[in-house]
Amino acid sequence: MVEYKAYTKEKRAMSMVSTEHLYKEFGRIMAVKDVSFEVELSEIVGFLGPNGAGKTTTMKMLTGYLPPTAGTARIAGHDIIDEPLEARRHMGYMPENVPLYDDMRVYEYLYYRAKLKGLFGKSVRQQVGYVMDRCGLDSKRKSMIHTLSKGYRQRVGLADALLGEPELLILDEPTNGLDPNQIRQIRELIRSLAEEHTVILSTHILSEVEMICNKVIIIDNGEIKAADTPTNLTGGLRAAGRVSLEYKGELEGVMRDLSAIPSVKKIIFEGTLPGGWQRLVVRAEPGTDTREKAAAVIRRYDYPLRHVYRHIPSLEDVFVEMTRHD
Ligand SMILES: Nc1ncnc2c1ncn2[C@@H]1O[C@H](COP(=O)(O)OP(=O)(O)OP(=O)(O)O)[C@@H](O)[C@H]1O
Ligand SMILES: [Mg+2]
Repeated sequence: MVEYKAYTKEKRAMSMVSTEHLYKEFGRIMAVKDVSFEVELSEIVGFLGPNGAGKTTTMKMLTGYLPPTAGTARIAGHDIIDEPLEARRHMGYMPENVPLYDDMRVYEYLYYRAKLKGLFGKSVRQQVGYVMDRCGLDSKRKSMIHTLSKGYRQRVGLADALLGEPELLILDEPTNGLDPNQIRQIRELIRSLAEEHTVILSTHILSEVEMICNKVIIIDNGEIKAADTPTNLTGGLRAAGRVSLEYKGELEGVMRDLSAIPSVKKIIFEGTLPGGWQRLVVRAEPGTDTREKAAAVIRRYDYPLRHVYRHIPSLEDVFVEMTRHD
């Protein structure tokens, strides 16, 4: 840790993770293609992509479990190929399927893992105590691992990743298979860990990413499609300038007047709803808000207006736009 601080002083850019043109080939499958990204100190990065996109493969390369076919990565300045042990010392990894030893008790397992990670003497006991406390495992310390619920198994996986208090946590689908209550608990745990650690996590739960991540990397088919803050990603979407309206009256004049509003690109008639309400969608430049102007148009005609809504794109919209293949 001391060493990392020294490193950060030397380099003004505090990249916790830096990957350069990473490739991974499995026979004829190119699972990861030319992946380059940076993760700065203290960022919480959501690593998103459809099934088979290359998330786990990328994480395994970062953690040294898989050698890249080409390219490289540095963790806290240490090259994963030239200095694998140094690089590993700076990170904790929670794999997709946490491989736990079912016939061990929670504390035995964590002791065993701590020793495997090179901790010794008093620090083993101290670290195991700390991670069990941090992950809410105290009440389960003597439970046999095979008796644990899925949520507690995930906690053991997280506790394992935390041993040695690495600066960087790489978590592969930490909430996979959990119920909504457990998801919330693990999310809170990750959020609290993020105060002291840089975190990269993969997940399919986009609302989760919106809640806890300050950066999103979208990967599809082995390639990075986007890397930015959630706000920048959603703000740039076509859907960001969409307003929908429901009013009762004639269509033609209203559609013409709405089209005349600056920044409006297109008016779409979505249909007549029960009761004679006309539903229109106003498509305008991303980042604009045409609600007031659109409502004023309807008011000029003195038509009843019951609905004006500005569509706020979610990360899900971004995800779908970037990864659909139709
Ligand atoms: N050991 C392997 N041998 C051959 N192909 C593999 C291997 N591991 C992964 N792949 C392939 O590489 C591609 C990327 O897989 P990866 O597991 O990285 O995807 P993922 O984004 O983690 O998906 P998921 O969301 O399902 O976990 C897939 O086509 C997968 O079948
Ligand atoms: Mg995976």
